[in-house]
This record gives sequence, C-alpha cells and structure tokens, in this order.
Amino acid sequence: MTTSSAPGKVYLFGEHAVVYGEPAVPCAIERRARVTVEPRDDHRLRVRAKDLTLDGFTVTWGGDADDRPDVNVPTPLVEAAMGYIDGAVEQARDAADAPEAGFDITVESDIPLGAGLGSSAAVVVAGIDAATRALGTDLTSEELADRAYQVEHEVQDGEASRADTFCSAMGGAVRVQGDDCRRLADPPNLPFVIGYDGGTGDTGELVAGVRALKEEYGFAADTVEAIGDIVRNGEVALRNGDIEELGRLMDFNHGLLSALGVSARTLDTMVWAAREADALGAKLTGAGGGGCIVALDRTEQTHTALEYTPGCEEAFRAELDTEGVKAEPES
Ligand code: PMV
Repeated sequence: MTTSSAPGKVYLFGEHAVVYGEPAVPCAIERRARVTVEPRDDHRLRVRAKDLTLDGFTVTWGGDADDRPDVNVPTPLVEAAMGYIDGAVEQARDAADAPEAGFDITVESDIPLGAGLGSSAAVVVAGIDAATRALGTDLTSEELADRAYQVEHEVQDGEASRADTFCSAMGGAVRVQGDDCRRLADPPNLPFVIGYDGGTGDTGELVAGVRALKEEYGFAADTVEAIGDIVRNGEVALRNGDIEELGRLMDFNHGLLSALGVSARTLDTMVWAAREADALGAKLTGAGGGGCIVALDRTEQTHTALEYTPGCEEAFRAELDTEGVKAEPES
C-alpha cells in the first residue's frame, strides 16, 4: 500500500485576476487530502472515498463502457470525483510507462469540496504521487504539479489556472502568473482562520461573469488590474513579514472581488464578522459565490465570532503549511 498526502490552499490574494495574466499568491494550509493506492492485477480502478463532505462512496470502473457504478450520491459529484481520479491514474500510468496498471484507491480528505480550498487539486496531486510511487517511479514536485495541472485543465474544460495544483504540490506560499510558478522564500507564519458557509460556487459561471463585466466596462478591467497591484504590494509585505499590511491588503482585495460580483451575502457576513472581531483582514477565497472566507488573526476572537455567525457552518484555524505533497507512512 502506498499513501501520499497533499495540502489544500487559500488565496491570500489574486483569484480571478490571475485568469487575465495578473499574479496571484495562494498559500497551502494545514488541511490535507490523503490518497492510498494498492496495485491490482487487472486494469480496473476501485475507488473508495471517505469524508469528502458527501456520504462516502465506492465505485469500480474501467471495464465495459457502460459499467457504471450504482451509488447513492448525486451523479455530478461522483462524475467529477471520478474525472479527477481517472485523470490522476492516467498521468501515473503515463509517467511510469505502465498503461495497463489498475488500482484499489482510497481517498480521504479534510478539505471541504468545491469551497475554494483546492480539494480537487490536493486529491489529484496526492493521487499521482501515490500511484507513480506504487509503480516504482518518483516524480519531482514540479513534475507532479505539472501533471496535476493537466488533469485539472482537462476536467475543468480549460478553466483552470496553475495556482491550486502548484501550491498543493510545493506547499508554503507561492506566486503564480500564467505558466510562471514559484515558491516564495521564507513566508512568515500566517495565522489563517477559515469560515465555511457549507456551500459552493460555480467557478465557470463566476469566471464568465467577471469576463463579461471586464469586456463591458473599462472600470471593471481597471479593477482586475488593481487586484494585480494588491498582489504586488502583498509580495512586498510577505517579504517583510508585515502581517498587519497583509491584512489591510486582504480587506481591499475582498472589496474589489465584491465589486466584480463574485461575493455572496454569506461570504460578506463572515468577512464582516471577522472584521468586527478585530481580524487583521478577511476576504473570500477562490471563485466565490459561496464556500469559504479566509481571515488573519493571531487571537481566538475571529474563530469564536465565526462560530456564532449565522450562515457559517464551520470555522477552523489552519496555519500556513510549508510542506507540499509527501509520502505518508503505512498506518
Ligand atoms: O475556487 P477555486 O479554488 O477553484 O479557485 C478559482 C480561482 C479562479 O481564479 C477564479 C479561477 C482559476 O482557475 O484561477
């Protein structure tokens, strides 16, 4: 049995603007997905998923085309999960030159699904790593990031940046601008607090909405560029370890994302709860529309305030995780 884990992420700055060539700074968080693989002696895949905020499911496929599983969870969720896992296995087969390899796969994750925390990227990165290692091949973190990006790109119909997959593979704080991805040296310890409304946003629709605004209004295009300026200022604040400045820039970034129409009442409510609890800053993370906010707070106040905020289903602390994908010992 071979197990790998990879972290989820928050966007400290720059989601949406990154789609138009501005830089973004995602940060890995101490919430992981773990994928365990056991090679089979046939070509099939059997997948067990636990804790994916759906009731867990087991599917076997890879036989006849109509060999579809009988499962008790919504089909689109299963199909999406199967798409990512299928893609990860294809990449591992390709990397290890083992096109016929089959696996029993178990996926466990403590990252809420589809909520802006990079759950699918973490599953794909950990899945490729576990499956290639099981086949006797070791990939570098950069190779894993690139192969995981190919999977996300395909499953998400070309609407994926390299942010989630690179961040999950490398850990720490990273900077992504188009195909240029790098790890930022020595980031300060970032005291993230995350609020989750239990929902999810439709990334494709939200990206399309921003694109339409940007095409219609010059000031919307300026807003996207202003987000790029925030990211550039944020990089300096990160280098200086200036957490207070990072918080102010996060507040500004949230305001601009709101102006671009990608926030939601639940997200704004959680952001305001964090601000009123004296967080250093707070913003939505990821595509928006629903899902998560991220705040910076060294004290317990924001966590406590979010726990009492209507519409916040879960609040948790998750510090910056400097470790990217890693092999897990056999349990
Ligand atoms: O919700 P997430 O974590 O998949 O983030 C989407 C971020 C966007 O910038 C809106 C799109 C992208 O692929 O970068």
